[in-house]
Amino acid sequence: MNPTIEVQGLRRAFGAKAVVDGLDLTVARGEVFALLGPNGAGKTTTINILTTLMDADSGTARVAGFDTRTHSTEVQRRISLTGQSAAVDDALSATENLIMFSRLAGLDRVAARRRAADLIERFDLTDAASRRVRTFSGGMRRRLDLALSFVVTPEVLFLDEPTTGLDTRSRRDLWDLIRTLAAGGTTVFLTTQYLEEADQLADRIAVLHDGRIAALGTPAELKARIGGDTVELHDARGELVREVATDGSIADLRRALDVLEAEGRDGTVALRRPTLDDVFLAVTTTRRTEEHA
Ligand SMILES: Nc1ncnc2c1ncn2[C@@H]1O[C@H](COP(=O)(O)OP(=O)(O)O)[C@@H](O)[C@H]1O
Ligand SMILES: [Mg+2]
Repeated sequence: MNPTIEVQGLRRAFGAKAVVDGLDLTVARGEVFALLGPNGAGKTTTINILTTLMDADSGTARVAGFDTRTHSTEVQRRISLTGQSAAVDDALSATENLIMFSRLAGLDRVAARRRAADLIERFDLTDAASRRVRTFSGGMRRRLDLALSFVVTPEVLFLDEPTTGLDTRSRRDLWDLIRTLAAGGTTVFLTTQYLEEADQLADRIAVLHDGRIAALGTPAELKARIGGDTVELHDARGELVREVATDGSIADLRRALDVLEAEGRDGTVALRRPTLDDVFLAVTTTRRTEEHA
């Protein structure tokens, strides 16, 4: 197998602080790969290195068959990175922006118009096609940003926190769109702070912790390590008074409720899905246990 992304021993420090500290990972062609980590974990730094915007201090990264340091132009030709909407002209419409980008990519006038019309339809921007970008909602901007990444079909699409700051509806729309793009064969490398987002989109998830991969696997594998939903008990004011972790099975849910009842507690019960915090707790606890063993 010829991987589309291959990272070995990648390091990058800012001052004395190693932000990326020995990162190893491989992404297969056509795979959707999620790098999951909290704010400040080093996600954007990693994306910046992989997209040739930044040099690593050491280690190597190959993207679409080329070394990001020695063959940056070849890499740039084969990838696109969204979140670069600084390049969008707010005073122009979505169609005008798409035509401008297409012309910059070398298409002639007729081809650029055709490409813009295609992308408007594919990225569900028809209603907004002739409106100035200045008037766009966050979700529409994100869709235009993605559409611009497909003026030239990339081999690898990099998405840095694609849905951060969007409302639930726009987030779901964008997930659908990313799934459609991935189904078309584009390799997708995305970063996110949301376990649910990684779970929804990714074939494999890497958990970034202390600048390296603390856990790696399919969503099902990771969730098996994290466990199931947590039963929460809230008092009359809605304050959380007690939580009991479960493995997600009916029997264990019943056991959790029995625990609360046996303690003679009063209140309202709710179920909480695992969060990023639960992932980190599970991953770091396992690691510590393994180190002790
Ligand atoms: N250019 C820079 N100069 C100094 N520190 C930086 C720079 N870029 C990022 N950092 C620091 O590196 C850490 C990781 O940043 P970043 O990669 O942006 O994380 P994430 O995208 O996961 O939120 C943060 O503590 C951030 O302050
Ligand atoms: Mg970031």
